[in-house]
Amino acid sequence: MSVCEYKPGLENIPAAQSSISYVDGQQGLLEYRGISIQELAEKSTFLETSYLLIWGHLPSREELNKFEAEIYSHRRIKYRIQDMMKCFPETGHPMDALQASAAALGLFYSRRALDNPEYIFQAVVRLLAKIPTMVAAFQLMRKGNEPVRPRDDLDYAANFLYMLSEKEPDPLAARIFDQCLILHAEHTMNASTFSARVTASTLTDPYAVIASAVGTLAGPLHGGANEDVIETLQEIGSVGNVRSWLEDALANKRKIPGFGHRVYKVKDPRASILQKQAKALFEKFGSDKHYEIALELEKAVEDRLSEKGIYPNVDFYSGFVYSKLGIPQDLFTPIFAIARVAGWLAHWKEQLGENKIYRPTQIYDGEHTRGYTPIEER
Ligand code: ACO
Repeated sequence: MSVCEYKPGLENIPAAQSSISYVDGQQGLLEYRGISIQELAEKSTFLETSYLLIWGHLPSREELNKFEAEIYSHRRIKYRIQDMMKCFPETGHPMDALQASAAALGLFYSRRALDNPEYIFQAVVRLLAKIPTMVAAFQLMRKGNEPVRPRDDLDYAANFLYMLSEKEPDPLAARIFDQCLILHAEHTMNASTFSARVTASTLTDPYAVIASAVGTLAGPLHGGANEDVIETLQEIGSVGNVRSWLEDALANKRKIPGFGHRVYKVKDPRASILQKQAKALFEKFGSDKHYEIALELEKAVEDRLSEKGIYPNVDFYSGFVYSKLGIPQDLFTPIFAIARVAGWLAHWKEQLGENKIYRPTQIYDGEHTRGYTPIEER
């Protein structure tokens, strides 16, 4: 077998054949199962979109009703998981809490019947139902409060916002949050999805698949960037400071959080939708003092880096939306995870379809026949 060229980050190397989503990075196009993200954000709901991603077709009324009802009835988490989460340090990052809690689900539902469609359905239901509850529970418990029980009369997005604040959310806020979940639900072969597929290919349980993907999403080059955006805007401090700050950052070889993407070489279509959502929330609930800085930063980055194809990515405007919804900054990435569970599960199911365990190769560039030097002689 010939030795292939090594591509750091596996750039442009296909790692799977998939019919789940499609990105055209030159045109700024994103489709889930062939349907544009704009159309889904406008007309669908997160749970309907999740069904589409996982089973490949838009559900009938009956299929959707059953799916929603199952998810709503599985939203509570076991007391023993809650007790375990109470022992987590309140200073720990919520992504670490989520990764540990997702993995712990596997202790309770460990039976693996990966060729049984009912097992697949129930695992999908449990993960989509319980991940938001675990995020909200950790948020309340780290402040010393008891978790809020899910409310059966509230839909997926509204219930999550309710569990965070114990207040029924404004309908516009709940709808916009649901749209955010749609926008973040899936994005082809990114790092966390690759991680999910590699884990899935060993035929382990789906809770391990999701835990491994959550751990991968947490990094600042991936999902963690949305937290860094707000910190960057705070650091810049004023519109007048943007250009000199940017020059300084580029001179120090800093990556500007919320900009750049391996695939998109134009503005990420999700960033444009999130920007509109942020504006709708500003109109209803008042503006954000960092928004003007963000607009100026977008212009300045375009002036300096557009020839490299560096434009806002999905993380640049999402923080504004979440802040207006009253969500604390370190929950931005867990919220990304809540949404991306749908995509990870779709890839888990697809991977099981024609599974072959991932076992790539490497190019060894170390030494040979060195011999062992006893410790006294080193
Ligand atoms: N700010 C400044 N310059 C950048 C940025 C940025 N945000 N992103 C890329 N560049 C420059 C690089 O310095 C490099 O320039 P060079 O060729 O002169 O050395 C060139 O653009 C290519 O950048 P790479 O890092 O090689 O691109 P890669 O595809 O490996 O990285 C990534 C993509 C990781 C997203 C990168 O753009 C980045 O670090 N962005 C900031 C973090 C961020 O926003 N991450 C969220 C991404 S979206 C998501 O995961 C949900």
